[in-house]
Amino acid sequence: MKIKDKNYRTIWSDENQAIVHIIDQTKLPHAFEIVQVSSLPAMVHAIKVMQVRGAPLIGVAAAYGIALAMHADASDAHLHDAAQKLKASRPTAVNLQWAVSRMVAGLQSMPLEDRAKWAWTAVQNMADEDAEQNLHIGQHGLSLIQSRYRKKTFQILTHCNAGWLATVDYGTALAPIYAAHDAGLDVHVWVGETRPRNQGASLTAWELSAHGVPHTVVADNAVGYLMQQGLVDMVIVGADRVTALGDVCNKIGTYLRALAAHDNHIPFYVAVPTPTIDWTISHAAQIEIEHRHGDELAIMQGVNAAGELQHVRILPADALTLNPAFDVTPANLVTGIITERGVFSPAELKRIYSEK
Ligand code: MRU
Repeated sequence: MKIKDKNYRTIWSDENQAIVHIIDQTKLPHAFEIVQVSSLPAMVHAIKVMQVRGAPLIGVAAAYGIALAMHADASDAHLHDAAQKLKASRPTAVNLQWAVSRMVAGLQSMPLEDRAKWAWTAVQNMADEDAEQNLHIGQHGLSLIQSRYRKKTFQILTHCNAGWLATVDYGTALAPIYAAHDAGLDVHVWVGETRPRNQGASLTAWELSAHGVPHTVVADNAVGYLMQQGLVDMVIVGADRVTALGDVCNKIGTYLRALAAHDNHIPFYVAVPTPTIDWTISHAAQIEIEHRHGDELAIMQGVNAAGELQHVRILPADALTLNPAFDVTPANLVTGIITERGVFSPAELKRIYSEK
């Protein structure tokens, strides 16, 4: 996507120097900084502290972690150690497990001297595939929007950040929105702030603004009210994992939005590339929900009047915290799942699963 007339992806590499470049998302929207990652531990760190985040992007970042590891030492022991460390870096998004397993499957039967070269090519292909899948998601989502579009502003609510920053390019939930905006449709996006890390307020608002898509940031707690007022025509969110029966694991708070959408007869769509569908899981309880540090609730990051980045504590010093990062929206609240292969209802997903 374009930032100030220059095209960027969220991650790219310099194979000859064995360097991976990422946009440091912990600094946005206040600073646009590119960080160089040149070792496996540095990539594990970048994923853990969420310099890179979003299910598809952490998948590709982890695959780059394997390529960096193979560049340093292509032995079996190092490959399996790298895979284990990367898989443990964040537990919920299946894309990360999927990407690492795909790299290991390709590498383990290969002579050691060929491994590094193969890994760089494989991860580059994976990154291209992600961008390509998201473009298709955009087109399928655009058809949905067009089928419901009337001659007034079409209002879409999203949650967290499932835009290009969460992927290699174009995004999942935001891909249909970019496609609709670029096709000249009058779309407006409600952006929930997405406490505690504020990926909606910090990242989604920033990238929609960079692309010129009209949007408004609202407090997380405002979304039920907006729906009751008839101000939401469609909800589109991303996901970190979709079970074979169509249950959707996504950023904490997604379930509440789905409940409110159901009560207000508003279509609730989930946009994912097919690697986000976990065919090995049919019960949502099998998904490991990441719990993050309570400081994410206690400490707010922002800039002061002088433009300096600051952190301020907003909780009493002795407040107890609990910080689950994801929840599961049951399939019965999901209208459809927009993938690069088309739009599927949870019932269709279930049928495909039963035929597997
Ligand atoms: O904790 P994050 O910021 O990695 O969570 C991101 C989300 O929950 C996204 O909605 C999801 O990964 C889909 S991204 C295309």
